Amino acid sequence: MAELNGKVALITGAARGQGAAEARLFVERGAKVIITDVLEAEGKELAESLGEAAIFVRHDVTDTESWDAAVAAGISAFGRLDVLVNNAAIYLMKPLVETSSEELERILKVNLLGAFNGIKAVLPAMTAAGGGSIVNISSQAGLEGLMNHSAYGSSKWGLRGLSKIAALELGPSQIRVNSVHPGPIATPMVPYLTTGPGSFPTLPLERSGLPEEVAELVAFLASDAAAYITGAEVTVDGGLAAGKFIPRNMQ
Ligand SMILES: NC(=O)c1ccc[n+]([C@@H]2O[C@H](COP(=O)([O-])OP(=O)(O)OC[C@H]3O[C@@H](n4cnc5c(N)ncnc54)[C@H](O)[C@@H]3O)[C@@H](O)[C@H]2O)c1
Repeated sequence: MAELNGKVALITGAARGQGAAEARLFVERGAKVIITDVLEAEGKELAESLGEAAIFVRHDVTDTESWDAAVAAGISAFGRLDVLVNNAAIYLMKPLVETSSEELERILKVNLLGAFNGIKAVLPAMTAAGGGSIVNISSQAGLEGLMNHSAYGSSKWGLRGLSKIAALELGPSQIRVNSVHPGPIATPMVPYLTTGPGSFPTLPLERSGLPEEVAELVAFLASDAAAYITGAEVTVDGGLAAGKFIPRNMQ
């Protein structure tokens, strides 16, 4: 079990879904958490439910000034910053021929530029703390080509690459950077997903994942238990990216 005692973590897009599950688990494991999102009501409610260990800051990851304000609010509340989880993202499933350049730009701006802004914004605080851990939430769509995901997939491939470059450049400052690649996870981003045995028969574990299952991996990468892990890409996808799975009814 990854302990996070004494760590201060900023988690973007944490008002709901995986980010909210990460905020809850981080607090359970001893961390203080800065929950940020553009969704104010949900974010405030979550922070209140976590008591003194969490604050909510309204924050748009595309805006560098908003990043500076979120980091400053976190440091003023908790005194330091050790962990950044770049989790905020938006989704689009559409054939490439129907995807406009504006849609591609919008997705890249939130999912890739947002994380880039975040890495730069936390650097001074992490350097002052003597190091830190940055976890970038990419996707299975950032490991393989996924049909009808030209904009979203490009942003997630970009984030995977950015993670490796940041790991190389920030390693000497003892800042670790890793990417996480979830498969289908039941959250408001993909409301059509169901959960439970058999809910996703076309991947090896034959079910969708839960936000809490991603949170366990993110907590591990954020913790000192992962002290020698940087530049890695880790899946949490029920085996989806392992290869070409043949579902039972097609064997
Ligand atoms: N759910 C899945 O199947 C799945 C699969 C692979 C990867 N992911 C990735 O996991 C991460 C979490 O997604 P989720 O499934 O919890 O979805 P979600 O939609 O529930 O959560 C994403 C959050 O990001 C916030 N957000 C969007 N734009 C923002 C902005 N400009 N600034 C700040 N916050 C913003 C949203 O308000 C939302 O609360 C995302 O990076 C997503 O791409 C999800």
